[in-house]
Amino acid sequence: MHLIKLDATDSTNAYLKKLLASEDVPDGTVVQADWQRKGRGQMGREWYSDPGKNLTFSILKRFSDFPVSQQFLFNIISSLAVVEVLHRYDVPQLKVKWPNDIMSGKQKICGILVENVVKGSTLKAAVIGIGLNVNQEIFPSGLNATSVKLQTGKEVSLHVLLEALLDAVDAALKTFLRGPKEKARRSYEALLFAKGDISVFETPQGERFTAEVVGIDALGQLRLQHENGDVCSYQFNEIKLLYGNNPPQ
Ligand code: BTN
Repeated sequence: MHLIKLDATDSTNAYLKKLLASEDVPDGTVVQADWQRKGRGQMGREWYSDPGKNLTFSILKRFSDFPVSQQFLFNIISSLAVVEVLHRYDVPQLKVKWPNDIMSGKQKICGILVENVVKGSTLKAAVIGIGLNVNQEIFPSGLNATSVKLQTGKEVSLHVLLEALLDAVDAALKTFLRGPKEKARRSYEALLFAKGDISVFETPQGERFTAEVVGIDALGQLRLQHENGDVCSYQFNEIKLLYGNNPPQ
C-alpha cells in the first residue's frame, strides 16, 4: 500500500483523482490529509472536519474492467468495513443510513463518498473517500454529527485507527469482489438504518410520503414499500429520508 500523507489539501478525493489523471498511480494508493480545505460530501455538499482531530482519506481501487452496474458494491464494501472496525472500538448502535452514512444511534459518525472513473460500460477505478469523526467533540449545530470520542469517551490514535480501516477495506474488497455479490448485499441490509420502520421521505420536488424501508436491490437502489403495498426502488437523487423511526404526527 502506498500512503501519501498531506498536512492540508482541498479534498483527498480531488487530489487522488487529479493524480490519477496525470500519472500512473498504483492500485491501493491512499491519500490522507490532516485538514481538507474543501472536503466534499454527497450531492455537492461540503464535509467539515476540524484539522488534526479526525480521519479524512481516500483509497484508490483500479480495475481493468468492472461492470458499471455493480458500482454500488464499493459503497457496500466500504460501509461494512467501517462498521466492522467501529464495532471493535465499542462504538454503540452502528447502522448504515443508505447509501453510506455510518450512524451511531441517530447521529452521523462517518460519511463516505465513492467517485468512479467510468469508460463506456466498465469501471476503470473507484476513489473511496472516507471521513470519520474521531476525536472532535464539538460540531457546528445542525450537523447531527458525533464522533468516536463522543460515543465511547475515549481519545483514539488516528494512526492506529487508519491502519485498522485500511486493512478492513482491503479485506472486504478481497472477500466481496471475489465472492457472491448477494452476500455483501445481505450483510449491508442487516445494518440498514430505519429498516422495517415507516419513515418520511421527500422528493426533489418537495413532495412528502411515508413508506417502509425494505432493503436495497441488486443495483443498490433503496427499496420502499408504499402504503398501498407497492414496492419501488429509488436512486440516491430521487428521495431523501427525512425522519427515521419517529415520523412527526
Ligand atoms: C457525505 O457524507 O456526504 C460524504 C462525505 C465524504 C467525506 C470524505 S473525507 C475524505 C474524502 N475527501 C473528500 O473530499 N470527501 C471524502
